[in-house]
Amino acid sequence: MTRKIDLTRIAMTLVLSVFLSACAPDRPEQVKTGEIPKGEFDPEAWGKVYPLHYESWKKTQEPKPVGLSKYKRGFDEDNIVYDRLSQLPFSALLYNGWGFGIEYNEPRGHYYALTDQIEIDPSRTKAGGVCLACKNPYHKTYTEKFGMKYLKAPFMEAVSMFPEKMQKSGPACIDCHEPSTMGIRPNKSHLERGLAMIGKEKPGQQELRTIACAQCHITYFVPRDQDMKVSGDVNLPWSKSSWGNISVENIIEDLLSDYQRIEWTQKVTGFGMPYIRHPEFEFFTRQSTHFNAGLACADCHMPYTRSGVSKISDHNVTSPLKREMAACAQCHTEAASWLKKQVGIIQDRTASLLNRAGYATASAAKLIERVHAEKEKGFSPDPALYEKAVSLYKHAFLRVVFIGAENSMGFHNPSEAGRIMGDAIRFASKSEGLLRQILAMGGFPVPEKIDLELPKYLDNRGTKKLMFKKEQELPDPFGLESLFSELP
Ligand code: HEC
Ligand code: HEC
Ligand code: HEC
Ligand code: HEC
Repeated sequence: MTRKIDLTRIAMTLVLSVFLSACAPDRPEQVKTGEIPKGEFDPEAWGKVYPLHYESWKKTQEPKPVGLSKYKRGFDEDNIVYDRLSQLPFSALLYNGWGFGIEYNEPRGHYYALTDQIEIDPSRTKAGGVCLACKNPYHKTYTEKFGMKYLKAPFMEAVSMFPEKMQKSGPACIDCHEPSTMGIRPNKSHLERGLAMIGKEKPGQQELRTIACAQCHITYFVPRDQDMKVSGDVNLPWSKSSWGNISVENIIEDLLSDYQRIEWTQKVTGFGMPYIRHPEFEFFTRQSTHFNAGLACADCHMPYTRSGVSKISDHNVTSPLKREMAACAQCHTEAASWLKKQVGIIQDRTASLLNRAGYATASAAKLIERVHAEKEKGFSPDPALYEKAVSLYKHAFLRVVFIGAENSMGFHNPSEAGRIMGDAIRFASKSEGLLRQILAMGGFPVPEKIDLELPKYLDNRGTKKLMFKKEQELPDPFGLESLFSELP
């Protein structure tokens, strides 16, 4: 296994004995009871050949114990749905104008990937069949077979095109495995195109353990025509990037490069905007300590686990905190409680920065709204200042979306999270300063404290009339919010 080569370094710096016992004689088993028919999509059929893996995979259906994770509480036994807009109220203002500003929840297990999409406010699946790219295993096949007829079909119509038994299927065996060899290979054409863009057409075994997840845990855009109508299958904004260097800067440069990437209109500013979704792969592989140490997603989210007398890769993919840090213990000798504390420290610091950046960006958005209101009445702002303020604002906004959408609250790459949020805070503050200058030049007074009018964005959202849930808010963990608003 190439994995062994990559991890030898880790073993030397860390715990040689634990590593060797985890990898060499006791490697995962393929308890195989038959052959999988070619082109078999149904996991139940794969389960007849690999019963242990099927059982493990099915466990993503089960909620996890309450209280193990502070930031990823979306799928616990208390059955509470965690609303990301209540968690970070500024995001309700920033995302207002399309589905993400209406209903946006913390993820659940893989089993529910498509179910949750069916159940969410219909504004989120307005683009149609193309939304199924990261959900149903048939997406690639149906795109090849039916093209735009499938991609542009109204969402539920596209779902009903699949064989009935598979209409609610999320990530399935065939998404990650080639049936005859069980080798890892992607089943998503957007990723195949993406890997070509970043020069990684022949990945190694350990890289495949990350690429399996990069099929879906990446940012993408739904390409649009000039009228913002869907014009093709999902694409990746990686044109400026390479393997290990899909930076937020490269992504933003790509996203701001043409109209095909403009997917929605932000209500508060009236700007046509691109968007960034769950960039776990991009963020983790951007030179994080663990990536540089040779780790893959599967090392932490699919550790080897006992199943009866056998040892398999855990297919019950979830937060390592909800599995008692077992994954970390493959390499780290520290106690689970110590490791968990380190995760918490990283996440609290990221949450603090994200709040700071988010509110600074929201303030700039409100000032742009004010400038636009005066423009309506005939005011012409200084064009150079205005253009600069808008550009800084967009750069801050997209960074806030990036860290907000990334699902580890900074853990996957802590110092990179700090760097990105630091830039966002600077850009947003600079934008605010310029906007104040523009308004002052026009003789329009601006109060010291900008009213964000958050209830307007947080309450009565969508068909479910969703409301702000104060108890779910993730305020600054260091209690600095009040200090910030009181400083001169
Ligand atoms: C075919 C798309 C797809 C693939 C492949 C995929 N995921 Fe996911 N993953 C999702 C979706 C969609 C969700 C959210 C499901 C929901 O909320 O209903 C999710 C949720 C998760 C969660 C949250 C689970 C929980 O208990 O809350 C984790 C962790 C995760 N994925 C990790 C991974 C890892 C690691 C890999 C690679 C081994 C991977 N995923 C591969 C689409 C995918
Ligand atoms: C070094 C270990 C490690 C690696 C490698 C790693 N993760 Fe994570 N991941 C974590 C931790 C720790 C969290 C935070 C979990 C929490 O807060 O409960 C997390 C959170 C997540 C979540 C959100 C989980 C939830 O319950 O909602 C997803 C999704 C995810 N990771 C996907 C990935 C993907 C995809 C990769 C590879 C690109 C990856 N991770 C690599 C440790 C890791
Ligand atoms: C999200 C991607 C993903 C899905 C879905 C998935 N697997 Fe896997 N599977 C992996 C990864 C990653 C490995 C580890 C491969 C490696 O290290 O070479 C693996 C390993 C395996 C192995 C080899 C033995 C082992 O335990 O490492 C078998 C057998 C297997 N999976 C069966 C299945 C079956 C059956 C299903 C469906 C019920 C399934 N897998 C679904 C990603 C996935
Ligand atoms: C396959 C081996 C491996 C696994 C699994 C692993 N780590 Fe690590 N971890 C490393 C290595 C190697 C380093 C770098 C150590 C060094 O440089 O001394 C590291 C560093 C760290 C650091 C310090 C990072 C920094 O940037 O300062 C933390 C915290 C950490 N790991 C937590 C975790 C947690 C939590 C998990 C499980 C979710 C985990 N690790 C899983 C190998 C691993």
